[in-house]
Amino acid sequence: MVRPRGVEAFAEAGVAGAALLVADAREGMTAGLRRRVFLLAQVGVRHLALGVTGEGADAPGAEAWRRFEGEFRDWAGQLGIDHVLVLPVASAGESPGLEDLAVSATGAEASGALSAFLEGVDAAADRAAQRPFRFPVESARQGDGTTAALGTVVAGRVRPGARVRIQPMGKETRVMAIGTEEGEAGEAGPGERVELTLADPILIANGSVVSTVESPASVADQFEVTVIWLHPEPLFPSRRYRARIGTQTADVVVTDIKYELAVGTEERLAANQLQADGAAVCNISLNRPVAFDAHGENPATGLMTIVDHETGEALGLALLHFALRRAENIHIQHVDIDRTARSAQKTQHPCVLWFTGLSGSGKSTIANRVEQQLYRLGHHTYLLDGDNVRHGLNRDLGFTEVDRVENIRRVGEVAKLMVDAGLIVLTAFISPFRTERQMARDLLTDGEFLEVFVDVPLDIAEQRDPKGLYKKARRGELKNFTGIDSPYEVPENPELIIDTSTMTAEEAADRVIDALRARGRLPQA
Ligand code: ADX
Repeated sequence: MVRPRGVEAFAEAGVAGAALLVADAREGMTAGLRRRVFLLAQVGVRHLALGVTGEGADAPGAEAWRRFEGEFRDWAGQLGIDHVLVLPVASAGESPGLEDLAVSATGAEASGALSAFLEGVDAAADRAAQRPFRFPVESARQGDGTTAALGTVVAGRVRPGARVRIQPMGKETRVMAIGTEEGEAGEAGPGERVELTLADPILIANGSVVSTVESPASVADQFEVTVIWLHPEPLFPSRRYRARIGTQTADVVVTDIKYELAVGTEERLAANQLQADGAAVCNISLNRPVAFDAHGENPATGLMTIVDHETGEALGLALLHFALRRAENIHIQHVDIDRTARSAQKTQHPCVLWFTGLSGSGKSTIANRVEQQLYRLGHHTYLLDGDNVRHGLNRDLGFTEVDRVENIRRVGEVAKLMVDAGLIVLTAFISPFRTERQMARDLLTDGEFLEVFVDVPLDIAEQRDPKGLYKKARRGELKNFTGIDSPYEVPENPELIIDTSTMTAEEAADRVIDALRARGRLPQA
């Protein structure tokens, strides 16, 4: 029983199917409380306890109390939460568990209602044991013709002799023994941390799932999901996040927000980003296949936590509906002429020079000069420039955060293809967000991505104002202008920093060429 505030608590509530909220009767049925109950219903909560504070001198009175309870029950019932317990609590402290609630519950009939409710919660927990066996592996080691896999059972039961499949790899084997801290066990069920001895020597990657062969998990890398977003910064499609599903991890991108769910009605709202405490049906894509179940069938293996790529902070949840395609049906087409052949033919080391900085910092000017020098040296190059790409490939994108994320994602992918083609690529985009620059970097191998931070104080960029856009932005005629009312995240570890307030474009270009030589990307002069 958890009090759902943070993402992890929501996830736990979803797996348990039960949650505890605390509300103040004097505030009544607020929009915030309605939304919380709605989100809990979405994650699969069917048993909901509400501890109501607000006793004392300014107590709301019996009638107000009854109205509040009635409204709460109606709302929960309307959302499909069929077991509701409302209890007056004296003062439940900061973050009570159900035990605290029981202790502080007032009213003679409370204990009867409470124990009936708890029985229901236990019965729901028992259902986890009836589900097909699932065991996310934390770590594994090979022994003498066997493999030991350590983890916690999240669904179903297992006995020695059981046939199991290691997923996503697909290898089948047999459970020989179940080890616990107290020695060998004849059986293990949900919540038990055990070491399974498997009958074959198998190299099991951490994060694999051991499933029963009778009803194994599915394996896929694209899903339809409901996303529950809990972070103040919105969810952006195209942005790369980290996903955790059990002990598995992968990169995840929301490829499409299909529609946002209206709170408490059947309405489907159009959305191109998702704000805090919102829920939306989305398509997502992972960078590798994972073992999963539909959330409705097995919440423990059907629920994914979405975390920030850099900070690791949990941001939201994805409840898996179904796979959009089976990963095993899509293969990367093998081609015989590969990047090595193509770059050898051009006798050069392909790479990306990624120029980033404020509008007016001099990115395009410097990139142009670098390209001219490379051309003169006989190299094969291509310059991708914001102002040009936005007239063609990215004609559909503007300057909101959502659109900038997608702008840079596409440029990163195109730059990668061009490196694959054997070219030295130069990109000149503001590219204001660290996450997307890192994503572009991660598409390439070490040493192939050189981030060039064209650094200039905002006031100098603003004085230059070659296109008169800063003036417009200051007058409020141009919204979301970088540096004015849209952020620029300064690179933390760029390969090169160029201060154009103290250097000419010619000098700057020389510095870039020197850096390429120093890194072995160009032959020495
Ligand atoms: S990015 O942020 O998505 O990387 P990009 O480099 O493609 O931006 O485009 C920046 C150029 O678009 C600027 O040099 C400027 O000429 C023009 N521009 C128009 N509106 C804006 C705006 N709101 N913010 C920044 N640049 C803008």
